[in-house]
Amino acid sequence: MKILVLSGPNLDRLGTREPAIYGGVTLSAIHARLEEVARAHGATIDARQTPHEGDLVAWIGAARDDGFAGILINPGAYTHTSIAILDALRGADLPAVEVHLSNPEAREAFRRRSFTARACVGKVSGFGARSYELGLEGLVGVITSRGASARGD
Ligand code: DQA
Repeated sequence: MKILVLSGPNLDRLGTREPAIYGGVTLSAIHARLEEVARAHGATIDARQTPHEGDLVAWIGAARDDGFAGILINPGAYTHTSIAILDALRGADLPAVEVHLSNPEAREAFRRRSFTARACVGKVSGFGARSYELGLEGLVGVITSRGASARGD
């Protein structure tokens, strides 16, 4: 089982970016931890980060053909603006889970709306770097149970 892990703009700066809000863990440390969590579930991850909306749209659009079973995504600020990423997730025909380090609902009003979560099976926010791990575990669970019901188990 191969999972595509995507992070959007400014998340490459985790560790130094507004640590009071996002914590002190770097994105590469998060990715290393996700690799361990994935391995424990018999899965693998391909983790990518970009500031570009179009990269995210293209990667999501190609995900199924590229052999991914699901998408874990922190779209960063595109969460609150991007209908293009929403449409890409809807068109991907793969389960997706949205994650956030902070809890956007508890912050400024403009962060309370997520376009992208509308295309996701679930969302985890507010647990810092742990949100990624919890989201990955939830996503693996969804993929596993869908596979079981498709097989009639
Ligand atoms: C974020 C929340 C967004 O509102 C913000 O623009 C980010 C990070 C989070 O992980 O808490 O870049 O996605």
